Amino acid sequence: MALLEVRNLTKHFGGLAAVDDFSFDVREGEILGLIGPNGAGKTTVFNCISGYFPPTSGKVFFKGEDVTGLAPHKIAKKGISRTFQITSLFDYFPAVANVITAFHLQVKASVLHTFFNTSRYRQQEAEFMEKAMELMRMLGLEEIALENTGGLPHGHKRGLGVAVALACQPKLLLLDEPVTGMNPEEVRVQQDRIRKIRDELGVPMVLVEHNMRAVMAVCDRIVAVNFGKQIAEGSPEEIRDNRDVIEAYLGSQEDYAT
Ligand SMILES: Nc1ncnc2c1ncn2[C@@H]1O[C@H](COP(=O)(O)OP(=O)(O)OP(=O)(O)O)[C@@H](O)[C@H]1O
Ligand SMILES: [Mg+2]
Repeated sequence: MALLEVRNLTKHFGGLAAVDDFSFDVREGEILGLIGPNGAGKTTVFNCISGYFPPTSGKVFFKGEDVTGLAPHKIAKKGISRTFQITSLFDYFPAVANVITAFHLQVKASVLHTFFNTSRYRQQEAEFMEKAMELMRMLGLEEIALENTGGLPHGHKRGLGVAVALACQPKLLLLDEPVTGMNPEEVRVQQDRIRKIRDELGVPMVLVEHNMRAVMAVCDRIVAVNFGKQIAEGSPEEIRDNRDVIEAYLGSQEDYAT
């Protein structure tokens, strides 16, 4: 049994089939690439899996359990965490506060403990700080932990978005364009982070990304989508040479070679 099974997923927006009878699996321990031209339906697939939109039809099974259409916080509790195409962080807080907030969301703190700043509350705060710093260290972000989030370079913001998603201790991580817009050095650092998350934390990932060089470098397997439908599935080498994939990208005038 695969970790995640997406079966005949379909999502209509009015008359548009953004995702059209789309099926794929994510296996334990793998990094799966989900590629396709602009508007192909990749983010909509993520939105349906993570509960932001209920699918029009089709099913999503996680560890064999039907999780189709559950609310986002319930999906997150089941162990699926995601990052967003546009990073949403608390700009006016230090970077580490974003990660600490993610820890808070998982624990129901008593209002009284918070209000009276009890020793239990202070102890929990210290634990969260320690855990957040450990996570940031692991992702090579410790140096910016106390810096103002809004002023961080793009690469660090994207890295911090990943740290926030990992604070939920996911069993599957969905990354929406984790390297898009980065300079080559930032891309290299983010690629290393992605490999480390799989190798050291054992978290499998689905990676939506336009940077083909990065996709080919980190993914074990790739699924290609166009107009909401799967057009190919295979190893990076198979996908690189696949005619339908090349044509989909040529048709969209995107640079497949980047
Ligand atoms: N909330 C929405 N309401 C209406 N149409 C939407 C909505 N979200 C996405 N769409 C449409 O669904 C289609 C697929 O969009 P989606 O964002 O999933 O594509 P994508 O593959 O992630 O593209 P990109 O690579 O540009 O991020 C597009 O035609 C888009 O305009
Ligand atoms: Mg998208």
